[in-house]
Amino acid sequence: MTTVSSMLDIGALRRLTIRCISETGWFDTGTVFGDIKDAGGAETDQYAIPWPPFGALHADNAAGFSALLEAETTDGAVRRLLFDTGWNPTWMDRRFAEEGIDRLLQQGQIEALIVSHEHFDHFWGIGSTLKHCPGITIYVPEGFHPKGFTHIQQQGHTGKVVTVRADQPLVLFPGLALVGFPMHTLLKVDGENVLYANLQDRGLTMVTGCGHGGVLNLLDYARRTFQGGERIHAIYGGLHIAPLEDWDEAREQIVNALRGYGIAKVACNHCTGRTAVEKMVELGLPVVRGTARHGSQTNLFVGNGDVLELG
Ligand SMILES: [Fe+2]
Ligand SMILES: [Fe+2]
Repeated sequence: MTTVSSMLDIGALRRLTIRCISETGWFDTGTVFGDIKDAGGAETDQYAIPWPPFGALHADNAAGFSALLEAETTDGAVRRLLFDTGWNPTWMDRRFAEEGIDRLLQQGQIEALIVSHEHFDHFWGIGSTLKHCPGITIYVPEGFHPKGFTHIQQQGHTGKVVTVRADQPLVLFPGLALVGFPMHTLLKVDGENVLYANLQDRGLTMVTGCGHGGVLNLLDYARRTFQGGERIHAIYGGLHIAPLEDWDEAREQIVNALRGYGIAKVACNHCTGRTAVEKMVELGLPVVRGTARHGSQTNLFVGNGDVLELG
């Protein structure tokens, strides 16, 4: 009798390079959370807050999250994706220029923009992408709000918008899958897209914006869904473990549990929290260090301008 594996084969990549354009959502957390409190608290509609580009509230504090993924497929083709588009257009314009993203967009060398989720620091800066490439295909998670779609249009988008349905992996090209997860979080934001890349001879890499669905849940999803998912080679991005730098037993358990996945490269930043990464280092997890340049505030993070080479 033969058994057919129900695990999904997404194919394999030869190589994946992740360039951190910006992981600093903002510079001062107290200022952002003060603004949220003044606007009515955690369940406020984010679009009611007059932050850039909708207003000038504490504009100097606003930055954004964005990364460039460059994948090489087994036939030698190079495919590029922008993962999130940041927040403050002034900051994003500067970082895009410093990393050469503006030119890649103008030349049509970035085939799609993946919006991980609708949070202001990942999405509101979309004008900085669209002014260089208005026709770019955009992927948003299920749960995206009507105001988010309106924002995309008002920033001059002329291309296709694809809504990623929850729990229906989309293979964007061989070796790379995009998965939508249902979640509800701060400022009425619903749904998050996560990328999983399968690297030839190495295993899976998971790329998250904030990982609001919980890093362990997102890794367990890979284990039970993808062929090769029992081997997690690397993780990159925001892991939302201690975004406010507070610590407790539950957080300790998450970091402890990460040791059970055999991950070879832990490259985190953004809402992971420094305290969480310090714990990872203490526990012997293979944390990839950054260089704390271009506004990134610690070398515990793979930060702005740092590059993670995989494969
Ligand atoms: Fe974020
Ligand atoms: Fe977020």
